[in-house]
Parts: sequence; C-alpha cells; structure tokens
Amino acid sequence: MLNFEFVSPTRFIFGRDAEKALVDQAKTLGTKILLHYGGGSIKKSGLYDRVKTSLKEAGVDFTELGGVKPNPALSTVREGIELCRAEGVTGILAVGGGSVIDSGKGIAVGVPYEGDVWDFYTRKAVIEQALPIGVILTLPAAGSEGSDGSVVTDMDTQSKFDCGSDLIRPKFALLNPELSYTLPPYQTAVGAVDMISHVMERYFTNTEAVDVTDRLCESVIRSVIKAAPKALADPEDYEARAAIMWAGTIAHNNILGVGREHDWASHNIEHELSAQYDVAHGAGLAVVFPAWMTYVHETNIQRFVQFAVRVWDVDYTAGEEKAAALEAILRHKEFYRSLGMPTSLKELGITDDRYDIMAEKATRNGSLGGFRKLDKNDVIAIYKLAAKG
Ligand code: NZQ
Ligand code: ZN
Repeated sequence: MLNFEFVSPTRFIFGRDAEKALVDQAKTLGTKILLHYGGGSIKKSGLYDRVKTSLKEAGVDFTELGGVKPNPALSTVREGIELCRAEGVTGILAVGGGSVIDSGKGIAVGVPYEGDVWDFYTRKAVIEQALPIGVILTLPAAGSEGSDGSVVTDMDTQSKFDCGSDLIRPKFALLNPELSYTLPPYQTAVGAVDMISHVMERYFTNTEAVDVTDRLCESVIRSVIKAAPKALADPEDYEARAAIMWAGTIAHNNILGVGREHDWASHNIEHELSAQYDVAHGAGLAVVFPAWMTYVHETNIQRFVQFAVRVWDVDYTAGEEKAAALEAILRHKEFYRSLGMPTSLKELGITDDRYDIMAEKATRNGSLGGFRKLDKNDVIAIYKLAAKG
C-alpha cells in the first residue's frame, strides 16, 4: 500500500427528508447564497419551492441562476461568477446532479480569482480560494457531492476539462434517495455506469497489498449491480435507490482509492466523446470502459482474474487466466446492455471518425493511465475497439 493523505470534509446527511436539513446547514454558506440548478427538473418535482421555503426559514438572503445544461458550459459558469460578484454572494447551493454541482464549483473558484476561471481547467492556475459549496443531490452518478473535482465544457473549442482541489469539496451534501425517484430510466442507468466506472478507475492498479480497498471496491460494484436493475424495475424502491445513492458518493470521494495508483484513462477518453458529441458521460463510459478493458487486460492479467472471480463469480481454472478475464469483460458488457446502455460507438449514435483529434486532445498533458500508459496511438486503437463494441 502506498502512503496517503485523505480528507473528506463534507457533512453527508442521508435519508428521507434529508433536504430539510438545509434550514440548519444554509448558514455554512454565509449571508448570501446563489441557488444554482439545471433545466427545470427541480421545479417539476416541487423541490425548488421547498428549497426556497427552507432558505427563507433559515433567514438567509439568496439569488438564483438556473439553466445549467448536462455537460455544463463554461459560459454559464462565467455568467454565475458575474452574478455572484454583482450581488455579493458568499456561498453556492447546487441543487441537481453532477452538472449543476460542477458548474457551482466553477463559480465558487471563479468569484475570488482575478483572472479567467478557465485558467484552472487548463492548468494555468492553481485553486487557492473558493466560496463554500453546499449540495442537494437529485441524481446519484458523478459523485461530485463528495469529490474534489469539477468538469466543465468550453463549447467554443469543444474542450471538456477538469480541475480539482480539496477546497471545492462541498461543506455539506443532503442525500435523499427519494429525490431520485423521478429520474428517467436512462439517467438511472447512466448514473450506475458512472459510479461503477469511478470504482474501476481505482480498482485497476498495479499497486500491491491493497486488499482492504480491493474488497471495498468489489462490494460497492456488486451492490450497484444488484440495486440498479431493481431501481429500473421499480423507480420507487427506496432501498435500491438508497444503495445507489450512497454507492455513488463513496465511489468518488476517494475512500476507495487511498494507498493505490489509479488509472483514469477511460474517463479521459470518454470526456472527448462528450466534448465532441455531447453524449451523456455515463453512456460514453459504457462504451469506452469495456473497450479499454479489452485493450489492457494482458497488462496485469491477475488483476482481471481477481475482478472476474470476485465481482462476476467467474469459474476460474489455473492456467485459464485470459479466458476468465474475457468472460468478465463479456459479463460486464452484458450487464450494461441489460440496463439499456449502448456498448458501441454506433449505438451511441457516433458513426463518423474523429479518433485522431479526440486522441490528440485526450493526451494533451502526456500519456494516459496508471494501470497501463497509453499514448495517442493506443487511444486511437481503443476508439476503434469501441466503434465495434
Ligand atoms: O437539468 P435538469 O432539468 O435538472 O435535468 C437533469 C439533466 O437533464 C436530469 N435530472 C437530474 N436529477 C433529476 C433529473 N431528472 C429527473 N429527476 C431528477 N431527480 O438529469 C439530466 C442529467 O443531469 P447531469 O447533472 O448532467 O448528470 P450527472 O449527474 O450524470 O452529471 C454528469 C456530469 O458530471 C461530470 C460529467 O463529466 C458530466 O459533465 N462528472 C463530474 C465528476 C466530478 N465533479 O467529480 C466526476 C465524473 O467522472 C464526471 O466526469
Ligand atoms: Zn465519471
């Protein structure tokens, strides 16, 4: 196990009615709050009115900015920064899924910074200050409610970049599984794929003696595999929704990733798909991750055998490592298909070939991947595998 430092300062308040805790938690965001949300799902569900009532009850002043789109836009982040400066906002309340939270995090780091917020995403500047952020989660998927990251897209250059700092981990996250009952099946599935992917980016490592986190990773993946079909069959299955919501948070606040090298190639490869074609992140991962697994499984076949046996209950005979690894990849893909996810670029609606430009951008900071180093040609080969599915 590698040395590590782990900080997860977020206060997670979980369960039915968790959003009511806003009345007490709002003060951690200061005296004037930006209520930040997406395209209207919270108005339809009635959550928007309840949040406003709680803010009034808490006695805090607030202003609002809605309209965050999936794959959140840099232009909205800039608009939010201007608004917050003009109105003297002291903290951000993001109500929604990963896109709203990430947009809110962008605003939080942009307000106290004199330059352009995009500098943080292009690695021209390091985050040194941020307004406090609070979250009411409506979509378990990205794990942004507990993570140190924000992912934003500059639509003008089709660049989807991330930035990170412990300073943007939310102060509080209110997690009520019932708020996810209204999710369309597609979003439920996309969320399941994203959280499983967050665990797998950590699981596929060459670091040895990481049994504690290995077993935590395996059980979180297995729990999502069990709960996701239940949530699809009965959207109001509270226990299934609860399992998914907590899995999504711990999949990405890094409790599962300490003391080990991570991979993250699949995420970088997928972000280019989202940037070019505006596909849902989890749907892109359903295509890219199995292609990546197929491409790299021989790098450390024993790790794939462990994954096969412990996650997918594959019967393994000594000497049949490759067969076990391929069987696990097949079962993994079949599971994604059973959730209604695409497993090829074609099924994702992508039929043209922009592999070269996407691979160029994905490797702009150097090679990808901790499990196996991938250069531009490797990334192109993975897009080609993904095309076939
Ligand atoms: O905009 P509204 O109307 O709210 O609708 C949203 C949106 O259309 C809808 N939705 C959310 N909650 C709902 C609901 N519809 C009905 N009922 C509800 N309860 O779902 C749609 C998708 O929302 P979005 O926030 O885009 O989805 P998700 O949570 O999957 O977030 C995806 C974004 O997070 C980034 C992704 O790249 C992508 O941009 N990620 C962020 C990470 C982080 N900050 O740590 C890590 C991840 O790897 C990921 O990259
Ligand atoms: Zn992700």
